[in-house]
Amino acid sequence: MVKICCIGAGYVGGPTMAVIALKCPDIEVAVVDISVPRITAWNSDQLPIYEPGLEDVVKQCRGKNLFFSTDVEKHVREADIVFVSVNTPTKTRGLGAGKAADLTYWESAARMIADVSKSDKIVVEKSTVPVKTAEAIEKILTHNSKGINFQILSNPEFLAEGTAIEDLFKPDRVLIGGRETPAGQKAIKTLKDVYAHWVPEENIITTNLWSAELSKLAANAFLAQRISSVNAMSALCEATGANVNEVSYAIGKDTRIGSKFLNPSVGFGGSCFQKDILNLVYICECNGLPEVAEYWRQVIKINDYQKSRFVNRVVASMFNTVSNKKIAVLGFAFKKDTGDTRETPAIDVCKDFQKIYDNMQKPAFVFDGRNIVDVEKLRNIGFIVYSIGKPLDAWLKDMPAVA
Ligand code: NAI
Repeated sequence: MVKICCIGAGYVGGPTMAVIALKCPDIEVAVVDISVPRITAWNSDQLPIYEPGLEDVVKQCRGKNLFFSTDVEKHVREADIVFVSVNTPTKTRGLGAGKAADLTYWESAARMIADVSKSDKIVVEKSTVPVKTAEAIEKILTHNSKGINFQILSNPEFLAEGTAIEDLFKPDRVLIGGRETPAGQKAIKTLKDVYAHWVPEENIITTNLWSAELSKLAANAFLAQRISSVNAMSALCEATGANVNEVSYAIGKDTRIGSKFLNPSVGFGGSCFQKDILNLVYICECNGLPEVAEYWRQVIKINDYQKSRFVNRVVASMFNTVSNKKIAVLGFAFKKDTGDTRETPAIDVCKDFQKIYDNMQKPAFVFDGRNIVDVEKLRNIGFIVYSIGKPLDAWLKDMPAVA
């Protein structure tokens, strides 16, 4: 029986391994973490993260071929394939602070693998890492390996939070990068055989190590770039009287462009886009490509601009001060977990708006950072409504925000 161990029981490690265990009953999967509360939660009825469908998958396999444990060393020692899915945040201190990926957790995981291993292993980069990380990891492993053969693979994860299980069941593609040597190709085949339990062969792409590492950063940069592009358009829409929803619908109909990721908003958030683009910018700078670095940095700059534009609009509309004013924030997660609006409570919230208006000091404002409220209805109630990229009402035109 093939044994898999995954270091890091987070948003990626937990769901990914649960799906592998479900789809591969012939494989034993152990997910390990240094965090005792996280592992305790994975072994309880209150899983540490919420993803639609996750609980069902975990309940089907936990205790059979899926195990959660804090005994990191034991499970690493016993595994044939070790996934490393630890966090790789942006560095806050030292060289590259504010941009480069902090690989401290990765390095300590690699050193531990080298220390405890007694048999050959395939080590899989699941975390998002800078291109060329595999080279550094290889050095750590081989210099401490006591003759053990390690093969490093890059297998970045493309799931999105909120649809993780769906994405893992039906991935657009699985990407596996490895060394172009016979041993490297054999390792790729071993990992490919795992995914082939449920992913069609044509959706499993194999590449060299550096292409796989870079593809993850590139994918996130392209996705974020679309958001910044439509947000940049939203500012121009407000200045000209165009409606950004109409513009994004019209351009999205072009099959070369496509309609996904063209929703204007207050900007992207979450744990990945910003850190991965900053990391990409840093890598470009380190490779002597300042123009390329500047190009991608602009995606972040527009995102920051969109956030401050929104806040400035809020403050400017309310006579340039929010002191002693009460502001309610509806919805605080970085995104919703579905695009389905049938029967959504938001509809009731909108109906309730008349009552809210009656109880508010006038003038009463609504600032919609996700373009979900019915602007006309709210304006008819009496609200002054700011909705990103849509024609402004007279009040907002008279109180221009300074970005
Ligand atoms: P996370 O922070 O939820 O989980 C990482 C886990 O690793 C933590 O529970 C931590 O305690 C554990 N850990 C750290 N060092 C360890 C060590 N030496 N031994 C054992 N456990 C250790 O992070 P998340 O969100 O799962 O992300 C992991 C990686 O996957 C990151 O590189 C991220 O960029 C990438 N990624 C994240 C996605 C997401 O939607 N969250 C999507 C695709 C990739």
